[in-house]
Amino acid sequence: MDDSQVLKERKVVGVVGGGTMGHGIAQVFAQSGFEVKLNDITSELIQAAVKRIDDNLSRSVEKGRISKEEKTEILSRVVPIRDLEDFRDALFVVEAVIEKIEAKTAVFKTLDKICSKDTILTTNTSSIPITQIASLVSNPQRVAGMHFFNPVQVMKLVEVVKGMQTSESTIETVRLMSKKLGKTPVVVSDSPGFISNRILCPMINEAIFALEEGIASKEDIDTVMKLGMNHPMGPLELADFVGLDVVLDVLEVLYREFQDPKYRASPLLRKMVRAGYLGRKTRKGFYDYS
Ligand code: CAA
Repeated sequence: MDDSQVLKERKVVGVVGGGTMGHGIAQVFAQSGFEVKLNDITSELIQAAVKRIDDNLSRSVEKGRISKEEKTEILSRVVPIRDLEDFRDALFVVEAVIEKIEAKTAVFKTLDKICSKDTILTTNTSSIPITQIASLVSNPQRVAGMHFFNPVQVMKLVEVVKGMQTSESTIETVRLMSKKLGKTPVVVSDSPGFISNRILCPMINEAIFALEEGIASKEDIDTVMKLGMNHPMGPLELADFVGLDVVLDVLEVLYREFQDPKYRASPLLRKMVRAGYLGRKTRKGFYDYS
């Protein structure tokens, strides 16, 4: 297959996982004219993802960015899929399930069986090596990282991650696809944390150390980075937004892979994750969202 075929509108794209990232990814593909098959492990989760997309699009209608008719059209391009077998005709797939290798393994082994050997298989992982995920399929040249940022509908960046065996043509297709979605792609070699999380998570970790050492209050630490560095959110607010468990996972990967103590996670971060204070998703993190 000519890789450029996949970039045409109305082509079928599969999105596995409809959570925080997956629903946003499905939405941006549908907005760009693709038929999106959206899968998750239960019908309830798929319906919840479709509802989130519906709500986001309603907001766009209210703001006058799209018409009611356009909303209906975009939504009609999102097809809930209970069984991954229905991804048979997908030319491009984005996996956005939980950050557990067991879950990703199950998805990629199934996709390997049912999709065409030319289907581009991408993963939104932020911490699992692309080379490891690619090794799960029979044709690892067509596997790449496609790392979106939260909220996907708003954030302009996609890190396109090249695993050890990823072909140049796969990278080019993923890069062009990202552009088609209105994003700016940056190609990165498979390396722990890629670029984004290698820089972001140590910064957040340092802010948590500063809090733990009593240097300043959480509000003041965030204010320094917002007003002093023009960041839209302070690092502690951002940790709550990303999820403290995600930040800890990334730090563990950086620490383990580089064997460098500079990536040591702060004891306070560990304690908060153990307490179940994961940020916005549990309504409690550094701040209270109840
Ligand atoms: N879903 C969809 N749209 C959202 C949204 C969400 N969860 N949250 C905000 N938005 C939209 C709003 O609808 C609004 O759009 P319009 O103005 O066009 O209506 C726009 O974003 C701005 O929102 P607000 O005015 O409500 O708030 P804001 O100006 O404070 O912006 C923000 C919100 C965009 C989230 C901003 O605070 C921001 O950029 N924060 C930093 C986000 C960030 O760093 N994300 C990357 C995290 S790292 C990651 O994702 C990768 C990883 O591997 C860990």
